[in-house]
Amino acid sequence: MAETSLTVLLVGARGMLAHEVKRAAPAHAIVIERDLPEFDITDAHAVRSAIAALAPQVVLNCAAYTAVDKAETERELACAVNADGVRNLAGACGAHAVPLVHLSTDFVFSGDGSHLLTEDDPVAPQGVYAESKRAGELAIEQTGGAWLIVRTAWLYATHGKNFVNTMLRLAQERDELSVVADQFGCPTYAPDLAAALWRLIAVDARGYVHVCNSGVCSWCDFARAIVEDAAAAGLLLHTPRVTPITTAQFRSPAPRPAYSAMATQRYTALTGTTMRPWREALHAYLHVKTLAQ
Ligand SMILES: NC(=O)c1ccc[n+]([C@@H]2O[C@H](COP(=O)([O-])OP(=O)(O)OC[C@H]3O[C@@H](n4cnc5c(N)ncnc54)[C@H](OP(=O)(O)O)[C@@H]3O)[C@@H](O)[C@H]2O)c1
Repeated sequence: MAETSLTVLLVGARGMLAHEVKRAAPAHAIVIERDLPEFDITDAHAVRSAIAALAPQVVLNCAAYTAVDKAETERELACAVNADGVRNLAGACGAHAVPLVHLSTDFVFSGDGSHLLTEDDPVAPQGVYAESKRAGELAIEQTGGAWLIVRTAWLYATHGKNFVNTMLRLAQERDELSVVADQFGCPTYAPDLAAALWRLIAVDARGYVHVCNSGVCSWCDFARAIVEDAAAAGLLLHTPRVTPITTAQFRSPAPRPAYSAMATQRYTALTGTTMRPWREALHAYLHVKTLAQ
């Protein structure tokens, strides 16, 4: 028997993760796409009208202000999108009894710890982007509707600006890459996260769930793996040296957690599936890049 259709309003539909969400959509999903400029989540009236008119069964919010460093000088815009915009979505979803699935970040954690962070660990966001994302989480909690907040980390995919694509480009241009070696997290292949989101939607998951590829590494370990595996896949003409540097030496405008690797046991308990190791996911991505050459 054919599965009943599921209408999902995908907000922020032109972003990196949303691209993969569309690709991974199950056959029974009807995905309605919305993004800037025609749909702005900071416009409360537009958000309410859209949800009333489209009557989705789920709203999946991939829209966000994601420029972590720029946010330090654009607090107002970052908060308008990541806190007020999310509040608008949560309010409209609550008013129409539509569950809201929202994306958040490992940056809500302080980074002081050294154990895999669970959904129950205390948060302490550092920097404007992190604070605005935490404010979005709280806005959703406060609406009282049905919601799922998926925290993820270090995303990459074909579409969009991300660390892997940047390293691949720089590796063609330079003999040496200096990469931060004292920040640890979980690189996550956006197609793996997209598949996980659809699984969580299928089981009507609620509350906070951490989803990232498994294993922990530093940005420097990640860069080394990218260079090594890309060279082996024939994607690089020469192999640059990857040199470790400290966060203090890199001097980025926004603070970043030193350790924000997350545990995914709750995701596994809900879906019966595990997230694959980050290195295996990186291989899969580089294979896709090889085929596209
Ligand atoms: N990328 C990561 O490494 C990472 C890590 C952890 C968590 N996350 C979270 O994962 C989610 C998806 O991230 P992503 O990397 O896919 O983001 P992205 O590529 O930056 O996509 C975000 C999308 O939202 C749109 N948008 C911005 N402001 C909007 C507004 N006011 N109304 C409607 N749409 C708006 C953007 O449009 P414009 O491009 O025109 O601004 C863009 O199409 C976000 O919640 C992010 O915080 C990402």
